[in-house]
Amino acid sequence: MLGIDIEDNSRFENKDRVKDSKFLEKIFTPSELDYCFSKSNPSGSLCARFCVKEAVIKVLSYKGIKHSKLNDIEVYHGGLGEPYVRLLDDTLKNIEIDISISHDKTKSIAIAQIKN
Ligand SMILES: CC(C)(COP(=O)(O)OP(=O)(O)OC[C@H]1O[C@@H](n2cnc3c(N)ncnc32)[C@H](O)[C@@H]1OP(=O)(O)O)[C@@H](O)C(=O)NCCC(=O)NCCS
Repeated sequence: MLGIDIEDNSRFENKDRVKDSKFLEKIFTPSELDYCFSKSNPSGSLCARFCVKEAVIKVLSYKGIKHSKLNDIEVYHGGLGEPYVRLLDDTLKNIEIDISISHDKTKSIAIAQIKN
């Protein structure tokens, strides 16, 4: 079971939006925001995480789960920079999902696959 999403980075380029902490906190966790804003150009990293969240929501549908909360789907990294995702909602903690991310100047994409 797979989920995929692609988005324009421009969604996260608007200066008012990327300074609007309420907007950002509805989508991203504090550690995701720390990671993205440590980059010289955060919009690709923000947009890629948004894609992960949408891809995860899509793949959860195959399990009959209708999920729409974005900031309890968290992307984190291993020592080589490889991304992982965890579901912060207690009822979904046992679901294991693999992800992969790519972004360039204009677009971001992510894919998610349920492992179990
Ligand atoms: C890791 C690597 C494959 C990323 O590819 P890229 O084209 O630079 O960048 P992409 O936009 O496609 O991917 C970036 C995302 O890959 C993910 N990523 C980073 N390191 C990773 C790794 N070791 N394994 C899996 N995914 C990784 C991250 O999620 C990253 O986005 P994020 O930091 O916002 O989370 C690349 O940097 C690399 O190390 N390539 C090895 C070969 C090489 O050096 N080629 C260049 C010389 S010709």
